[in-house]
Amino acid sequence: MKFVVALYPGGAAAAKNPEILGSAEHALGLRPFLEGAGHELVVIPDKEASLDREIVDADVVITTPFWPAYVTKERIARAKKLKLILTAGVGSDHIDLAAAAARGITVAEITGSNVVSVAEHTIMQILTLVRDYLPAYRQVLEGRWDIAEAASRSHDLEGKVVGIVGAGRIGQRVALRLRPFGVKVLYYDFRRLSTVEEEVLGIQYALLDALVPQCDVITIHCPLTPETDGLFDRARLFRMKKGAHLVNTARGKIVVTDALVEALEKDHLAGYAGDVWYPQPAPPDHPWRKMPRHAMTIHVSGTTLEAQKRYSEGIRDCLERFLGGRGIERDYLVVDGGKVVSPSYSYAFGK
Ligand code: NAI
Repeated sequence: MKFVVALYPGGAAAAKNPEILGSAEHALGLRPFLEGAGHELVVIPDKEASLDREIVDADVVITTPFWPAYVTKERIARAKKLKLILTAGVGSDHIDLAAAAARGITVAEITGSNVVSVAEHTIMQILTLVRDYLPAYRQVLEGRWDIAEAASRSHDLEGKVVGIVGAGRIGQRVALRLRPFGVKVLYYDFRRLSTVEEEVLGIQYALLDALVPQCDVITIHCPLTPETDGLFDRARLFRMKKGAHLVNTARGKIVVTDALVEALEKDHLAGYAGDVWYPQPAPPDHPWRKMPRHAMTIHVSGTTLEAQKRYSEGIRDCLERFLGGRGIERDYLVVDGGKVVSPSYSYAFGK
């Protein structure tokens, strides 16, 4: 069988560090396993440039959200032998799920593999914004010591209202990590949690329109679907409290690019952070690189070395099951048997 793996080029860092399993060079550690069993492994580090050619006779395609090779309807139509598409990580929005379902192709992701990594990154970015860490750090590099300037936008997190949009695996872990900070946490999810879960997490349910104007910080943790694409548009961004902060480690397209720049330039929002962009990699002139008061990183929150190990092991497990004729772990399945089966993606699909 032919396995096509689209991963980022690891360069000098990957050459030195075999733990960077998610790079093209280390190919999720799959090379000995697949080639040893007589399969063909094609690794494409040039993102999508080679995908059109390689997908035509591929049985399995493996991609990653950090360096997404877009598996579009057109590409799926040309991939006559394709049976399985795997996401090394969480979030399969770079795959046309409707087209995969229509063709009976299975799609799976490594559910839970990097949820702690993203939750930790989120807490770091909330604090970075609320304490206004980066300008104070820049003063150190610039040889300056202007306390008034550094303190002028720096707040305690304690006593603030934080809103979580999407209370799944990551959103719930963010809630748990916020508990010691003494904040009030509201959440919105299209599926409300049980009373017991709300009690344990210390969070209160609110519909999105009620949550948005109350929060000093909002953090987004729902998947990118047709329903959440552009969810934070101009109207919603300007309905946020003046001086609030927005963090988005979910997907770049959930926030409307130009509307966010305007909300920051007009000083309506105090700051924005996250690690997800559209498209990825973000071009050098992407407006979010230069907008005021942001604390963005490149898409890296879910790919710590520990996370890379976990999602590589998950991919290996999927392939062993697939090759052995056994079903893929139920919790990993996004599309199966011609249907979207993951409850996280259960939007009005294909209507
Ligand atoms: P999850 O499936 O456990 O949780 C997602 C939650 O969002 C679910 O509770 C679901 O009910 C809710 N949801 C779905 N559609 C919604 C809608 N229209 N409105 C409100 N809530 C909605 O997924 P998990 O593991 O928490 O990941 C969430 C997202 O985070 C992923 O889909 C992915 O896009 C992103 N992610 C980003 C990473 C990074 O490195 N930055 C790494 C891992 C995930």
